[in-house]
Amino acid sequence: MLVNARDMLVKAKNEGYAVGQFNINNLEWTKAVLLTAQECNSPVILGVSEGAGKYMTGYKTVAAMVKAMVEELNITVPVALHLDHGSYEGAKKCIEAGFTSVMFDGSHYGIEENVAKTKEIVELAHSLGISVEAEVGSIGGEEDGVTGKGEVADAQECAMIAALGIDFLAAGIGNIHGKYPANWQGLDFEALEKIKNATEGMPLVLHGGTGIPADMIKKSISLGVAKINVNTECQLSFAAATREYIEAGKDQQGKGYDPRKLLLPGFEAIKATVKEKMELFGSVNKA
Ligand code: 13P
Repeated sequence: MLVNARDMLVKAKNEGYAVGQFNINNLEWTKAVLLTAQECNSPVILGVSEGAGKYMTGYKTVAAMVKAMVEELNITVPVALHLDHGSYEGAKKCIEAGFTSVMFDGSHYGIEENVAKTKEIVELAHSLGISVEAEVGSIGGEEDGVTGKGEVADAQECAMIAALGIDFLAAGIGNIHGKYPANWQGLDFEALEKIKNATEGMPLVLHGGTGIPADMIKKSISLGVAKINVNTECQLSFAAATREYIEAGKDQQGKGYDPRKLLLPGFEAIKATVKEKMELFGSVNKA
């Protein structure tokens, strides 16, 4: 069932778990995430970065594929199709293309410009029943060409953005896209607590979900995080399983080169990673 992300995240916040956003890259990725959500009876958010949207030929293709796949695979759990780290133009394009949720990432603008642009996107998206995520304090590291400095968000600025009627807020708390370096200081829970208090019940989003230890995930959920984004970890699982298949020479046995066979171990590996995350986030049987 394709829905916006608002109700599933309000429910998650109230019941003390988080919904996973898993970024998709192609048909196999999308199918793996959707089937796992259904098997786990879990709500799910499919994340599409601007780079991944372009790779899949455009947002219309993505929206059509996801809509048809939800129908033809009989996916009954709540599924949101969400733009990840969208620009102002990208968010507008996804709203037009049939996404059910968008992130407008104005964290690299000054706070006044972030407020003004977020406000416009909220008005447009909400007039069509589409949910909106905004960002304050950039997420560190690089994802699909979007680079952030990794600032810790200011609680007052979070309150200003939350007051615009957004549905959920991404706030930098020392989290980073991609693998965490060995000398990573961990999440800033003091900052998270301040943001939670300043935003009064707003579901918060934790980006950079790859490699965050389980105890930090649990603690962030207890402090208001209701959505956790995972991208790199599925890529790593897919790559490792595919490498193992090829290194074992399986692509040269029988019709092992058939793409449906060649991509199968990676597909199964994504499913296992998504299941593990849904169990950790507590969203199993919460559909
Ligand atoms: P990772 O790639 O670190 O899992 O981060 C995903 C993310 O935050 C997408 O916005």
